[in-house]
Amino acid sequence: MRQSHVNKVSHFTRGGVLVCAGIFNSPACLWTRRLPYTRRSPTPPARVRSVSDGATARPRPGETDGWTPMGPDEGIAALVQKAAERRRHTGRPFVTLSYAQSVDGSIAARPGQPLALSGALSMTLTHQLRAAHDAILVGIGTVLADNPSLTVRLVEGKNPQPIVADSRLRLPLSAHLLCQHPLSPWIAAGEPADAGRQHVLEAAGARVLRLPMNTRGHVDLTALLERLGALGITSVMVEGGARIITSFLAERLVDHIVLTVAPRLVGGLRAVRRLAHADPVYFPRLRNLRYQWLAEDLVLWCDPAWEEG
Ligand SMILES: NC(=O)c1ccc[n+]([C@@H]2O[C@H](COP(=O)([O-])OP(=O)(O)OC[C@H]3O[C@@H](n4cnc5c(N)ncnc54)[C@H](OP(=O)(O)O)[C@@H]3O)[C@@H](O)[C@H]2O)c1
Repeated sequence: MRQSHVNKVSHFTRGGVLVCAGIFNSPACLWTRRLPYTRRSPTPPARVRSVSDGATARPRPGETDGWTPMGPDEGIAALVQKAAERRRHTGRPFVTLSYAQSVDGSIAARPGQPLALSGALSMTLTHQLRAAHDAILVGIGTVLADNPSLTVRLVEGKNPQPIVADSRLRLPLSAHLLCQHPLSPWIAAGEPADAGRQHVLEAAGARVLRLPMNTRGHVDLTALLERLGALGITSVMVEGGARIITSFLAERLVDHIVLTVAPRLVGGLRAVRRLAHADPVYFPRLRNLRYQWLAEDLVLWCDPAWEEG
């Protein structure tokens, strides 16, 4: 069944009907289909602790453990509201992890090799998400592989401040972030990084933030978020790649996840690698899971929560 009346979409989604945005004659044209199933957790929720608010035990009123359909325009507005609430608890910038993966969890065909996974509508969502955050962060591996622009181009909105986690100042002077971006990139570098290289990058327009290193020889992400908070950044969208995604999850610094799942099998670079421990107690549970179809892509919106320990 097709549904082209946008105002009816939320009515259908509330009624358990999956609403898909499709590219027909107009981007506003929508169609719907019956959910194959609506799964809600039949079991009582496990005791978990939300990393962002420090709350323990069962979900608070309004939180869910199951899967809930979401209307096309609900996500960003809910995210902005959630970010403001969480910031009051944590005092640090709100962190949204957002990336596109294949069904088997690959974000690239090979390490260092870009792969376009998102369809046109989910790419537009990515740009909406960028515009809704103060800053956007990627690892230096992504810059070296993809040379991304990280700008807002597909929708109206401001560009978030681009930040590169680059402990050793490897950012090339030819990077689009240095040569083409309207904002000067901020580079999160380790304290021991080469001072001469810092001068070169600063002369090219970058701002270098010197930060402590963690035990694995990378920039300490907690220290980075504290610094960003001090610089007035209230929300950060983390776009990848695999090492950065894994580090933010392993350090329990993610408040919200917007995950695009493209209908492909790639067998490539996995988005999430080893999360430090093999004990399931360290694997985040995905809470408040909502989903929407954007043409062929399934987009999941959720809050990670970790068991105590
Ligand atoms: N599908 C998608 O949505 C998507 C999005 C983005 C990227 N990608 C893909 O992801 C791939 C790149 O992933 P990647 O894992 O190679 O690189 P990455 O995660 O982008 O960057 C990793 C690098 O960041 C630096 N870094 C600084 N602080 C860190 C920390 N605390 N933890 C981890 N790393 C830190 C490290 O280098 P230093 O130690 O030198 O600082 C590390 O090697 C590319 O193929 C790209 O196409 C896909």
